[in-house]
Amino acid sequence: MMQEQIDKYTSEIKAFTAAKADELEAFRIKFLGTKGIIKDLFEQFKTVGAEEKRTFGKVLNQFKQLAEERYNDIKESLGAGTQAAKADTDLTLPGDGFEIGSRHPLSLVRNEIIDIFKRLGFVVAEGPEIEDDWHNFSALNFPEEHPARDMQDTFFIRKGDGNDDIALRTHTSSVQVRMMENGKPPFRAIMPGRVYRNEAISARAHCFFHQVEGLYVDENVSFSDLKQTLYHFVKELYGEDFKVRFRPSYFPFTEPSAEMDISCTICKGAGCNMCKYTGWVEILGCGMVDPNVLENCGIDSKKYTGFAFGMGIERITNLKYVIRDLRLFSENDVRFLKQFQTDII
Ligand code: PHE
Repeated sequence: MMQEQIDKYTSEIKAFTAAKADELEAFRIKFLGTKGIIKDLFEQFKTVGAEEKRTFGKVLNQFKQLAEERYNDIKESLGAGTQAAKADTDLTLPGDGFEIGSRHPLSLVRNEIIDIFKRLGFVVAEGPEIEDDWHNFSALNFPEEHPARDMQDTFFIRKGDGNDDIALRTHTSSVQVRMMENGKPPFRAIMPGRVYRNEAISARAHCFFHQVEGLYVDENVSFSDLKQTLYHFVKELYGEDFKVRFRPSYFPFTEPSAEMDISCTICKGAGCNMCKYTGWVEILGCGMVDPNVLENCGIDSKKYTGFAFGMGIERITNLKYVIRDLRLFSENDVRFLKQFQTDII
């Protein structure tokens, strides 16, 4: 009776294989568990006669050994699999990591610029990237066929006769025109946006870039308002540790016009290739809005004055993060972009 059972189970054990940990566990419970077959056979063994005890003792021990060996062998061969199965249920293991995107450095700097001007009471204005000649040039006091138009190598989309020239905007000054045409002073706004110029792509130039321009028009706005606003802006952006200078310049839409330089934030004025060994870097253009521009937009230039300024976000970002190649901004290489990880999700 016992012998029969043992023979039957012996072949079952020998034929047993398991692909998964839970099949092996079922095997263990069936044969080696506290209520398992082997336990049961040992119980039966207690009741047999002395003669049988001698023969069966050995058989039973061999049978038990066989089951244990089979169990251990399969356990070992399942190895990694068993661990993985365990990992599924181990709640103390860390979860799978997931990638959080990061803000583009140009967006980070643009947002910072917007925040600084918002605290001064400026609002954000936007306009189209495809512009007509009037908003990009004529209203801004660029005379027709004037060489100043060549300063900004324009991508023309449609060149017709008269006023219907359509181009990609070369600056966001066009948004200033739209704002003044459609509203009444006072205006206090900044215009962030993408602009386009027909330049060969290199480390220092690109055919598109980003600007933030600004406009302040009210009664009695003076050049000192312009200077103080821009001083405050650069201090907020870069801290106190640099010098500022204004240089006279020319723009058709401002009179007088200036450019603002800051001492190079990278070499602290000592000279490096970022500032072309001059110790200074130009960061924006500015000036008092030309009365012709105000009149072109239907604003009484006897009553109102204003200032305007414009900067390239790329330049500001290069100085902030020491980036020497403009092309990095548009290549979308994640190894570059993920260095600007922020807490903002
Ligand atoms: N529109 C000028 C540019 O793109 C910048 C500027 C804006 C200069 C406003 C003066 C006043 O270069």
